[in-house]
Amino acid sequence: MSRRRWCGALLAYGVMATLEPIHADDNGSVRYPAGAASFQSNCVVCHGRDGAGTPSLAPPLTNYPARYIGVPEGRRQLAMTVVYGMFGDITVEQKHYNFKMPDFSKLSDDALAAVLNFVVFDLGHASADATPLSAAEIAAERSQPALADAVRQHRTALLLALGLAN
Ligand code: HEC
Repeated sequence: MSRRRWCGALLAYGVMATLEPIHADDNGSVRYPAGAASFQSNCVVCHGRDGAGTPSLAPPLTNYPARYIGVPEGRRQLAMTVVYGMFGDITVEQKHYNFKMPDFSKLSDDALAAVLNFVVFDLGHASADATPLSAAEIAAERSQPALADAVRQHRTALLLALGLAN
């Protein structure tokens, strides 16, 4: 599906687009099917079916989230991004993105853990040895309210710690 089509989909945010089947690995198997279904209904409009993102607006999810899963502050980052949203300029692999990531606090802890595990393991191909996010980790972020701008500041510190920014 072309990038132009995704920009159109973004403008029509809220209107259900007709989508092709969700990403599967080489064997055609998806490790987190419930997360895949949720990604299709909640995330694809901005991040694209394969998580490749929308230029200048929504970042790709195919690399950094799989790096975040290996460290405690990265796991917190993933949870807080979906619980509180994020806005303002961010850099992913030397490219800038600046748009509003909505919060998805209306989804359950289980649903948010599943959609993030789909992003990390199915789209991002994180090592199978990495520990999946749990509903308890989502609940822990919910219990300490943060503003979307604080989520972005936490991300800046995380990227420095991971050697992904300078
Ligand atoms: C309306 C568009 C939109 C939707 C829908 C959306 N996102 Fe986002 N997402 C963004 C934007 C924009 C950013 C970057 C925010 C910024 O620029 O500060 C982002 C950032 C992220 C990040 C952080 C990436 C990084 O490098 O740190 C993750 C993870 C993420 N989104 C996951 C999701 C998931 C999972 C869903 C569905 C439940 C979703 N997004 C739905 C627009 C969206």
